Amino acid sequence: MSVEKLQITLSEFKKAKPDVDHLEFGTQFTDHMFVMDYSSETGWHDARIVPYQPITLDPACMVFHYGQTVFEGLKAYLTADGEVLLFRPEKNMARLNQSNERLCIPPVNEEFVIYALKRLIQIDREWIPAKEEMSLYIRPFVISTEPYLGVAPSKHFKLIIIMSPVGSYYKSGVNPVKILVENDYVRAVAGGTGTAKTGGNYAASLKAQEVAAAKGYSQVLWLDGIEKNYIEEVGSMNIFFIIDGEAVTPALNGSILEGVTRNSVIQLLKHWDIPVSERRISIKEIFELHEEGKVTEAFGTGTAAVISPVGELNWKDKTIVLNGGKTGEISQKLYTTITGIQKGSLPDVLEWTQKADEGLLVK
Ligand code: COI
Repeated sequence: MSVEKLQITLSEFKKAKPDVDHLEFGTQFTDHMFVMDYSSETGWHDARIVPYQPITLDPACMVFHYGQTVFEGLKAYLTADGEVLLFRPEKNMARLNQSNERLCIPPVNEEFVIYALKRLIQIDREWIPAKEEMSLYIRPFVISTEPYLGVAPSKHFKLIIIMSPVGSYYKSGVNPVKILVENDYVRAVAGGTGTAKTGGNYAASLKAQEVAAAKGYSQVLWLDGIEKNYIEEVGSMNIFFIIDGEAVTPALNGSILEGVTRNSVIQLLKHWDIPVSERRISIKEIFELHEEGKVTEAFGTGTAAVISPVGELNWKDKTIVLNGGKTGEISQKLYTTITGIQKGSLPDVLEWTQKADEGLLVK
């Protein structure tokens, strides 16, 4: 689809902007959204930016019944010079199509969607909070909209992009969190949908999360679905351990989501000459190595929280405290560097950011 095909209808009024000192993740939305439809006869069509509004759907739409849906999460940042930056948006779009492939959703034109997203950001630019650690969270998602109760891939879809000004994902900010290792429920198994960013994976995680929260933990650590022995993810993030000076993260094994932040952390650590190993790692090994004093830090990585240090890990009623329950040196350096690159306050050594108005016909 070409850029001329993007129709724009501006909102007649602007909503009040939120108080940035009390921003809660994902609760407020900008004035506009992007929508594009798909039908098996015409492909993706009717790309448009319209005022943010509720959508009306037939109750028989397949997304309500069989969960044929995918989503992405990325952010736009306002720099001190008033420039708007995007962080590796091409990675998110590529992953959107990988998720689409797994969920039998037709691929989108990645370049066109990035173009449309840039136009959307340009239109709602004043919603990007300027403060440190704040950004505009962007949520592209696809839903299956064919009204049909048979179990089959839908013939109709909608791609929508909404945007929300956000601060820290956790109310506690970048402070270490307490994690409960999950022994009963599993997130995904190889061959399932764990590598796709699809709603069902998140729905499946809620029960364990609820149980952990009732016990005073912020997140759960997911183990593999077969032996319940090998570490997979933490909450909705990838996980890293610093063991004897080496960064260790579970290898992508067919059930782990390939995080953009995970990839960025690996590249940065290598750039700093810190060895990185992507391998299978058991929870038992972590507890044993911790006893030997070798596990010095652990942290989750994701778009929403960026780096989330792990302060405490509980497994079968045994608790280990990491780095005295404080944010470790490497976790802090990663957080400062990635957010600095994203906000344009540190050199973009690995060339990850792009200006949000780059490639736009209208400046
Ligand atoms: C992320 O941080 O990448 C996420 O996917 C979190 C989101 C589900 C809130």
